[in-house]
Amino acid sequence: MQARAAAASQTKFVLDESQLPRRWYNIRSDMPTAPQPVLHPGTGQPVGPDDLAPLFPMELIRQEVSEEPEIAIPEQVLEIYSLWRPTPLFRAHRLEAAIGTRSRIFYKYEGVSPPGSHKPNTAVAQAFYNKQEGRTRLATETGAGQWGSALAFACKLIGLDCKVYMVKISYEQKPNRRSLIQAWGAEIVPSPSEETQSGRAILAEHPDSPGSLGIAISEAVEDAAGRDDTAYSLGSVLNHVLLHQTVIGQEALAQMELAGAFPDVVIGCVGGGSNFAGLAFPFLREKIAGRDIDVLACEPAACPTLTRGVFAYDFGDTSKLTPLVAMHTLGHDFVPAPIHAGGLRYHGVAPLISQLVRDGLIRAEAYLQNDVFASAVLFAGSEGILPAPEAAHAIHGTIRAAKAADDAGEERTILFNLSGHGHFDMAAYDNYFAGKLEDVALDEDEIERALRAIDGLPTPV
Ligand SMILES: Cc1ncc(COP(=O)(O)O)c(C=O)c1O
Repeated sequence: MQARAAAASQTKFVLDESQLPRRWYNIRSDMPTAPQPVLHPGTGQPVGPDDLAPLFPMELIRQEVSEEPEIAIPEQVLEIYSLWRPTPLFRAHRLEAAIGTRSRIFYKYEGVSPPGSHKPNTAVAQAFYNKQEGRTRLATETGAGQWGSALAFACKLIGLDCKVYMVKISYEQKPNRRSLIQAWGAEIVPSPSEETQSGRAILAEHPDSPGSLGIAISEAVEDAAGRDDTAYSLGSVLNHVLLHQTVIGQEALAQMELAGAFPDVVIGCVGGGSNFAGLAFPFLREKIAGRDIDVLACEPAACPTLTRGVFAYDFGDTSKLTPLVAMHTLGHDFVPAPIHAGGLRYHGVAPLISQLVRDGLIRAEAYLQNDVFASAVLFAGSEGILPAPEAAHAIHGTIRAAKAADDAGEERTILFNLSGHGHFDMAAYDNYFAGKLEDVALDEDEIERALRAIDGLPTPV
């Protein structure tokens, strides 16, 4: 009784280094509906390992299709994880007071990693397997710069060269994250660039293109496909990336137990879906086994992939270099408005999340950026941490969920993923304080026009 009272007033729930999860959780083994096969765009047939071998090491290809429930984390990866993991879980007592809710709010804080977000959970694993299989260089894209800095960090520690194609608008808006990427030894160019066929083609047609994740992916894939020493590395969307992030939710399960609580609502922001999956999948395992949990994905109204996109086969990139994946999409040539949550500006979303949305296990909401920033500032003023604009979508979703519970006369336990801090996003906050942020909501015509890009592609069953 006393222990429970102590847990109720406690703020931080921390695990010992020895409690770091030693396995990643693979949700494929528990999904009620298997995800659709990935298709070769030329033949329309499922892709095999040989199709993917020019881009990825074999172990990651194996993880991509694995149905084993758990996959062991290599010792060297655990050793590097231990620099910042296990990450803390907080009870947001002060936010609860600030909004006057009767619900309990918890958050898992991934901003304590050296690059400041959840991204190194997969970057370190990907760099490790590439090094093990003899690659010496990785090529990747980055939106806000969180992923690029995470991969640069991982490559530095593991001993690989790294080339980052950074979405041009973010390259200009976030010069400090660019410097961080350089500090960890990676080479970085704004995308679209003159260095690839894909980049040159886009610049010829749209010289002022702000870039997009879809375009930057095309450039990085082309770079990797053209060199034997180089593999491609993706920071989200793919099954193996989501798999590596599940250390977040596994730790959170143990920490919620320390807090003597279990969430009624689990919330994360969704770009490609990796931080959301990282927190939510271990809880979805419980939901699939019969527990009642509301699992909420939060996205920007300017790029409403889950709430307004369609479930269809589409390319992962703008120049149609990737295989076809069945996912919620806005069309591969959709270029989202340059909102400040750069990491959420992606036309698609992870196939595993898409399937779980289709099966009714996850629901989604979309928010305008001024509302999101207002919630971010409220959070910073109560909990102290200034969130990344991406993570602020989860904060906004949490505040809405708490208010909805209050309106319904209920007390809920809400857990969200604070996927990163916003210390490199100060220009975004400056613009918000100056009243310069535009709220971008798409009209139906724009969505219909963008979706024409997928006409003629195979239809999922
Ligand atoms: C802090 C942070 N959160 C969330 C995201 C969105 O990516 P994902 O949906 O893969 O977690 C990003 C992407 O850059 C990010 O930097």
